[in-house]
Amino acid sequence: MNIPEIFDTLDYGPAPEDAAPAFAWLDKYGRNFGLFIDGAFQDAGETFITANPANGETLARITQAATADVDAAVAAARKAQGPWEALGGKGRARYLYALARLMQKHSRLFSVLETLDNGKSIRESRDIDIPLVARHFYYHAGAAQLMDSEMPDQRAIGVAGQIIPWNFPLLMLSWKIAPAIAMGNTVVLKPAEYTSLTALLFAEICVQAGLPKGVVNIVTGNGVVGEMIVNHDGIDKIAFTGSTNVGRRIREATAGSGKSLTLELGGKSPFIIFDDADIDSAVEGLVDAIWFNQGQVCCAGSRLLVQESVAETVYDKIRNRIDKLRLGDPLDKAIDVGAIVDPKQLRAITTMVTEGLKDGGTAYVANTPVPKGGCFYPPTLITDLQTSDRLMQEEIFGPVLVAMTFRTPAEAVELANNTRYGLAASIWTENINLALDIAPKIQCGVAWVNCTNQFDAAAGFGGRRDSGFGREGGREGLFAYTKSNAKAKPIARIVANAGADTPGAADQTIDRTAKLFIGGKQTRPDGAYSRAVFSPKGKFLAHVGIGNRKDIRGAVEAAHKAKGWAKSSGHLRAQILYYIAENLAARTEEFAARLKSMLGGGDAAARREVNASVERLFTYAAWADKYDGAVHNVPIRGVALAMNEPVGVMGLICPDESPLLGLISCVSPAIAMGNTCVVVPSDAYPLAAADFYQVLDTSDLPGGVINIVTGNHAELAKTLAEHDDVESLWYFGSDDLSAKIEKAAAGNLKRSWVNNGCVRDWSAAEGPEFLRQATEVKNIWIPYGE
Ligand code: NAI
Repeated sequence: MNIPEIFDTLDYGPAPEDAAPAFAWLDKYGRNFGLFIDGAFQDAGETFITANPANGETLARITQAATADVDAAVAAARKAQGPWEALGGKGRARYLYALARLMQKHSRLFSVLETLDNGKSIRESRDIDIPLVARHFYYHAGAAQLMDSEMPDQRAIGVAGQIIPWNFPLLMLSWKIAPAIAMGNTVVLKPAEYTSLTALLFAEICVQAGLPKGVVNIVTGNGVVGEMIVNHDGIDKIAFTGSTNVGRRIREATAGSGKSLTLELGGKSPFIIFDDADIDSAVEGLVDAIWFNQGQVCCAGSRLLVQESVAETVYDKIRNRIDKLRLGDPLDKAIDVGAIVDPKQLRAITTMVTEGLKDGGTAYVANTPVPKGGCFYPPTLITDLQTSDRLMQEEIFGPVLVAMTFRTPAEAVELANNTRYGLAASIWTENINLALDIAPKIQCGVAWVNCTNQFDAAAGFGGRRDSGFGREGGREGLFAYTKSNAKAKPIARIVANAGADTPGAADQTIDRTAKLFIGGKQTRPDGAYSRAVFSPKGKFLAHVGIGNRKDIRGAVEAAHKAKGWAKSSGHLRAQILYYIAENLAARTEEFAARLKSMLGGGDAAARREVNASVERLFTYAAWADKYDGAVHNVPIRGVALAMNEPVGVMGLICPDESPLLGLISCVSPAIAMGNTCVVVPSDAYPLAAADFYQVLDTSDLPGGVINIVTGNHAELAKTLAEHDDVESLWYFGSDDLSAKIEKAAAGNLKRSWVNNGCVRDWSAAEGPEFLRQATEVKNIWIPYGE
């Protein structure tokens, strides 16, 4: 075609990116890759093929790691970890900086290789993925530089096992490796089996940067290799991004191992358009939300919720717009939609949509040519669905948008939260007040106002509910790779004092049965059982109710009803905490006597515990209006507000040692941050805690914010861990329940914080660690300008 003809038709001409340098790089390795362990490539072992999904051509063969290989990689990482951490933050920063520079230098090669292996358009790999990778290493070079001065109480966790998906292969690698090594950890990373090539090129970059041997190890292979990493005894932390099903299995597999865990899983994120939105911008936003990366994005705005009055206009505009999207060779710079990652994923999308449409729904398939011979799926809009339809609820993970209407903002919020996921949300309205009213109400980790799919190393990313837990990026993400410097001691199991089963006649004269406290009222346990509590010398002290699973359910319900507490101001929560502290202080002698009667010990020790409890309440009253998030410095004209939100309903199973102070140390940060809770006091020494409700009764705390259920830890922990309406569970008891709790918590992927059989010094157990565990960070992105 000559130039005048092009002007006549205005058709796109081909604009292919040259793939020759990428092929030359593959040829350098004979298109046969071994693993990268201890700073060097190994000989290839048993291999599998990695292919270009746009045309099915084989790109290279990749090694399926064997058990011995994973052992070798973990051993190399372990050996390297001590010296790497000892290098100090400033020393490590130099390497991260070198990696960032080298990424930029080789960015074109990385982009082309990514596009060949994954099928994403070169425009996206070149302009989004790879620049963000470099940005991640720069940001975390800075995080390393400042670690010693800004995080003096934190240290590396150790060896991190990292398992990443295929949708953003190199970007996910950088999200995992950069913070891990910045904080002094070493890593064993497994890329997804469809997309290992850029991770192997990154290994070469590590050699060029002179990174010490063993700091980064790359093992390739399928889910079996992932499992080897997850189950490996030599690994201290697992970071996973991928499907919710695998994430849940990893939660179960790591339960009780003491491995720290972060999970970044799937989503079905709402994209909400209000009738006053700039509709054309919103439709362009949708293109970025669901047709970006062929819809293979965990936080894709895959569920459109549009206000009824503008729905038909919006649908028309979407249909017109997707007719103009160009599918084709991902290496062509003028292509909008590339290839789906693999024939298997293409089949999964096709089956899900075909099967789903049998339940109802109307599909509009873009009227645009679909190339033959590769893994291409046309942009699709599905309307007329019901809220419970599979297509409305399940992640399709392809270029398919489902849509539904709403009438009022309240209905928009209800529909947005009508999902088991909680990753992201996009909110479109010209009314900033409305947007900032809606964003906090949506259960998600990231909310974008009049924008979508914004990412940056300075802002945390991650979800809640079935979308997993933990944050990557931002200051909040650094804590996923650190632990406190404080050393924990193993607990000697604490058992209750024994005594005569039947109290003496003198002890029966008044009913001394500590009741449960649910919904602001004293209640008798459902099972109508109680047990006697004795002094160390066997003297009967009082009865305490034995709560059961029904009591826990009642308490959880009461805690849910009290969720308005989350909306109360920090100032009000502080006032109430001060008031509780004052009322406890007024009864110091009484509580000290109670503690002394259960624990033995002197008057002074008992008084010290009460005084420390009062002090702790004061501390969290102080924090209630001060633990106030951040404005992240992201490179857009706008802000990313990192808001600390309550986790929700928390289960708090309190320690046996320091039975009053331990309970106060758990309850006060939880309620200071706006959570409501179900508290299970010490199993062995429950009395002082059970008496605590009398203090609450006189302190203006709304009913249901704190619910106290005494009873057997093992039984109550199980119910709390399995309960779908409990969002987080802390366990500091002295039975060996950590493993059971973590396993049962996999059901609704609730956050758990357990002691793995180690005791804390409760006199020093306060501060940001507790506040972090009592909050979720939500990043709300708000761009400026017209
Ligand atoms: P997947 O969860 O199976 O794979 C992700 C990574 O986990 C890969 O590296 C894989 O090798 C590894 N893996 C698989 N089984 C494992 C196991 N038992 N233990 C440890 N590691 C294991 O995801 P898959 O099958 O590739 O995609 C299926 C669906 O998952 C997609 O359709 C999509 O819905 C979702 N997905 C979500 C992603 C996200 O970013 N949240 C990314 C990729 C997939």
